[in-house]
This record gives sequence, C-alpha cells and structure tokens, in this order.
Amino acid sequence: MMHISEFARQSGIRAQTLRRYHAQGLLVPEVDPHSGYRWYSSRQLHTARVIQSLRGAGCNVALIRAMLHPSDVPDLLGQLEAHALTLRSQATHQQALAITIEGFLQRGKDTTLPDIHEFWNSLWLTPADAHIRVAFVGLKGGVGRTTNAIYTATLLQALGRNVAVVDVSGHGDGALTWARQASQRDKPLPFPVYTLRQYPDIAEDVDVIFDSTPRGEDFTAAALLADHLVLCVDAGGMVQHTLQLELSLLQRLGVGCSGSAFGVLLTGAADPLTPLELPEELTAQEVWEWREEWAQLQQLVAELLQDLSARSLPVLGVIPHREVHMAAGFTCPQYLHDHHRVLGRFLGVDHLMPPHRSPSTWSP
Ligand SMILES: Nc1ncnc2c1ncn2[C@@H]1O[C@H](COP(=O)(O)OP(=O)(O)OP(=O)(O)O)[C@@H](O)[C@H]1O
Ligand SMILES: [Mg+2]
Repeated sequence: MMHISEFARQSGIRAQTLRRYHAQGLLVPEVDPHSGYRWYSSRQLHTARVIQSLRGAGCNVALIRAMLHPSDVPDLLGQLEAHALTLRSQATHQQALAITIEGFLQRGKDTTLPDIHEFWNSLWLTPADAHIRVAFVGLKGGVGRTTNAIYTATLLQALGRNVAVVDVSGHGDGALTWARQASQRDKPLPFPVYTLRQYPDIAEDVDVIFDSTPRGEDFTAAALLADHLVLCVDAGGMVQHTLQLELSLLQRLGVGCSGSAFGVLLTGAADPLTPLELPEELTAQEVWEWREEWAQLQQLVAELLQDLSARSLPVLGVIPHREVHMAAGFTCPQYLHDHHRVLGRFLGVDHLMPPHRSPSTWSP
C-alpha cells in the first residue's frame, strides 16, 4: 500500500488530482478512519493510467466511470458515440479558430502589437450567438444562489457580453441588496440588477441571470423564464428531503433533468479537491477533530455525488467552501476560478475564456 504522495510520484498524477478522482469515485483508496490518510494499492496504478488516457481523450467523468465499469453501463456505445460527436464539434471550432488566426497573419508584416492585442481580444470576447437566460434555484435557504448569480454575471460581463441580473423576489438578501451594498462601498457592480417586474423592459440581446429564493413561487418563475437552470445544493447539509421536492417540482414544471440546460451545482461544499489547511496553533486533539470532520464532509460529498449519478442527474461541479467568499461579500470579484470554470462550461462560453488563470485580463 502506498501513501498518496508515493502514489502520486509513481503514477505521475498530482496528489490534488488524485483527491479529485477519489471524490468523483474514479479511483478510490482505502481511507484510514483515524488519520484520514488515503492508501493506494499498486494495482491501482494501472487504473490511474487508464483514467489519464481517457482524460487525454477528452472524456468527462461520467464517461470515464462508464469505461472503467463497462458491464454496468447498458448504453456505453451510445455514450461513446455522443463523445465522438463532441470531439468533432470541438475540432470544427478549433479549425475555425486556426483559419481566423491564419487570416490575421496574412495581413502582413506591418501588423503592430496593439493590432495583435485587439485581434486576440476579439477572438475570445466574441459573444456566442445565443443569449443566455440562466436561473439559480433551490428550495433550501443559503445555498449560494445569490453568490453564484452575481459571480456568473461577472464572468459574462468580463467576456464582453451584455448582462443583467434579475432579483426574482426583490426583497431579502438577494442580488438587489448586493448591488446596493456594493454601490455604498464605492464598488458598484458592473451590470444592472432589476426586479422581476422590470424583466419585460430588459432588451432582447442581454444575458439575464435570475437570482431566486427558497420560495416555491420564485423557484417556479425563475425556472420557467430561464433556458439554463442551475439547482444549487449545499453538499455539506442534509439534502435528501429537499432534493426530492426540488426534483418533483422540476418535473411538474416540465424541466428535463438531463441534457445541457439543467445541472446540479454543489455549493459551499467541504472541498474534496484540495488538502485540508489546518489553522495554526492547534492542539493534537483539535487537529484530530479537524481531520475527522474533514473526512466526514468529504464522505458526504462523495456519497451525494454517487446519489446524483445514480439518479442520472448532471452535476455541473463542486464549488468549494472558501472563506474568501464570505470575506468578499457584496464586492464583485474579478476572477473566480472555481465558479467560472464550472459555470463557463455549463453556459457554453468556456471556449471564450482565456486558457490560463490570468487575473489581469479579467478586470471588468
Ligand atoms: N463557496 C462558498 N464558500 C463560502 N461561503 C459561501 C460560498 N458561497 C456562498 N457563501 C456564503 O454563504 C452564504 C449564503 O450564500 P447566498 O446568499 O449566496 O445563498 P442564497 O442561496 O442566495 O441564500 P438565500 O436563501 O438567502 O437566498 C453567504 O454568507 C455567502 O457569502
Ligand atoms: Mg439569495
């Protein structure tokens, strides 16, 4: 048996990635119940290589899982076919990009540096053709609807799109309050926030982000107006009962629980992807308790992911619980890797985002 660092060395996969594979149920080590340490067998090195090669082939987690356990998956060939189609459309997009860049290069030698910058910006600032209507919903309080709505608006705005947020309830701690507080702190949001009553006045070519509340009527209004629906689920809480209610409400509203327009976002979760950062000056007993709590939370997330997968519900991603979000309250962060990566992919704008984390290019 190997400790994660030794397994990382032998497999050539970073420990952080191995933790993610664990949370996703792809490569599950034995976990020491006391220390929380992960132990891997040498047999798992082969599985790790298979996972890496499937990732290299662009497979998503669901497909990798299916390929690892082919006998459990009746429609594996259908899934592979869908993947081939995705690869084809990506290839077409990349080919178009290459042709555009080559066209620019043919302009000749007098091209100046500002020209190059302008051209490059125009490439990834190009709006996708569709206008996005995305709603953040959930029947539980404090699951991150407002935070993720504001962060998504920030992302779309940074991509050069016209964005407006609609605070569906118009009262409480929603997006309108956020906008008001941001203005009072001399950091106004770079996009407008409206009430639902003002919705009909918003121009057609504007992306609209709906911030709803746990109330059934707000959930319903937002779900019916949006074409992208994000169900926010607090992965650290007791979610089963509410999830059942949410799914039956979505079913009654006729919102399909598969396909690209619907997904579950696990929010405020204990971060299963990064190592536990212990506060300084803890006693040995406190360290043990922290680790114990951490392992339990990770277990919760892993179980929830399995449950959602068994229900064939698309999981958009896990937004880790990070103190920075609490501290950032009511300001407008410029670049949020966790949120933007997950939500950009869901909204189909990730190809417009710069490939590397680069905060300076993200100033709204
Ligand atoms: N990823 C995160 N990590 C840590 N704290 C977070 C995260 N996301 C949101 N929060 C915090 O959780 C609290 C609830 O978030 P938020 O207001 O976005 O949820 P909500 O679902 O809109 O709540 P409400 O039921 O009031 O509408 C806020 O204090 C927010 O700062
Ligand atoms: Mg809210």
